[in-house]
Amino acid sequence: MEEQNQFYRDTWAEIDLDCVKENVQQMKSLLPQDVALMAVVKANGYGHGDIQIAKAAIEGGASYLAVAFLDEALALRKKGINDPILVLGATRAEYINIAGKNNITLTFFQEEWVREAQAQLAEDVTIKLHLKLDTGMGRIGVRECPTVQSIEALIMDDKRMELEGVFTHFATADSPELHYFKLQLQRFEELVNAFQTRPKMLHVSNSAAALRNIAPYLNGIRYGIAMYGLTPSPAIKEELPFQLMPAFSLRTKLIHVKKLLPGEKVSYGATYEAKEEEWIGTVPIGYADGWLRKLQGQEVLIEGMRVPIVGRICMDQCMIKLPFELPVGTIVTLIGVNQGEMISIDEIADKLETINYEIPCMISNRVPRVYIQAGKQVDMKNAILH
Ligand SMILES: Cc1ncc(COP(=O)(O)O)c(C=O)c1O
Repeated sequence: MEEQNQFYRDTWAEIDLDCVKENVQQMKSLLPQDVALMAVVKANGYGHGDIQIAKAAIEGGASYLAVAFLDEALALRKKGINDPILVLGATRAEYINIAGKNNITLTFFQEEWVREAQAQLAEDVTIKLHLKLDTGMGRIGVRECPTVQSIEALIMDDKRMELEGVFTHFATADSPELHYFKLQLQRFEELVNAFQTRPKMLHVSNSAAALRNIAPYLNGIRYGIAMYGLTPSPAIKEELPFQLMPAFSLRTKLIHVKKLLPGEKVSYGATYEAKEEEWIGTVPIGYADGWLRKLQGQEVLIEGMRVPIVGRICMDQCMIKLPFELPVGTIVTLIGVNQGEMISIDEIADKLETINYEIPCMISNRVPRVYIQAGKQVDMKNAILH
């Protein structure tokens, strides 16, 4: 009989929820008691799984969740999360009732939006709002003090709306050079001073700012990348106050093993040629899983040894050079630890000339996620079937 969420392919991502919990607990222990840790679980928990990460974060001490879109917040509500959720991105004013009825906090940053939302909002629905200030990120947010004042005045008279929070986002909190960061902080203060009555939740820090303790924690921090055990940027690795525990591993298994003779070729374009007798293994992961073609030549781990991906990466499969004949079914680690050897997400990001944030996000839904707690599998998600 088909089990719910069972999967049938030999490639999976392993998410260690104890690592997530630990990364949250460690950060939380550095914060004053009354500072909220808001767990950022947008983009399906940075590719790790929204509901599982949300639960682990709450267990670790998070008291607020943050997502990018209303859809992501509604998905968490559907999955049974009752804790406060803030939508960090823009939501159309016409959807205000859906947000209010589901007790979802919205971010806004335009006076016009408030007027339209007030016109749309039902008499018996209330909504919590956070005002976004653009202090130098140049993305979304109010930039002028008079706009802050007119927005405050508009909301003050409306019983259905609670201006619960105000926040901004830093562009350079993960950089050793803090000049621009300080300018943003200063601008935040100026804009917040424009309020007659300050909202109760002021929050500015992302992981980098919180870990480095370079901005006041105020009433909360928005904790994303570090919760997943990843360093916000290589440049601040030395400054971390505790060791981050990476939660994400990516594994597959040998599905075919063969010996090539000198001169025999591998994969599309026949670009790889065996120089001598070589053992080649095939693994069922390819660019449709987010294992991009540019990862050709990247090493993987097998029996604790580093071996290269050879030839072009196909849509669903790729080939690796084995040190010797190994049996079909042997586990291959693409990201994570195998017999004491490790391939980090940072290594893959380096190879792809990008940032670590992008790596778990790019591993597609076709790759099932398996969840580990206390060393045991506790849950799994086959996103194709369910
Ligand atoms: C508005 C906002 N706050 C907080 C975060 C979390 O940042 P980090 O993952 O660097 O902690 C993000 C992530 O992009 C964001 O967009």
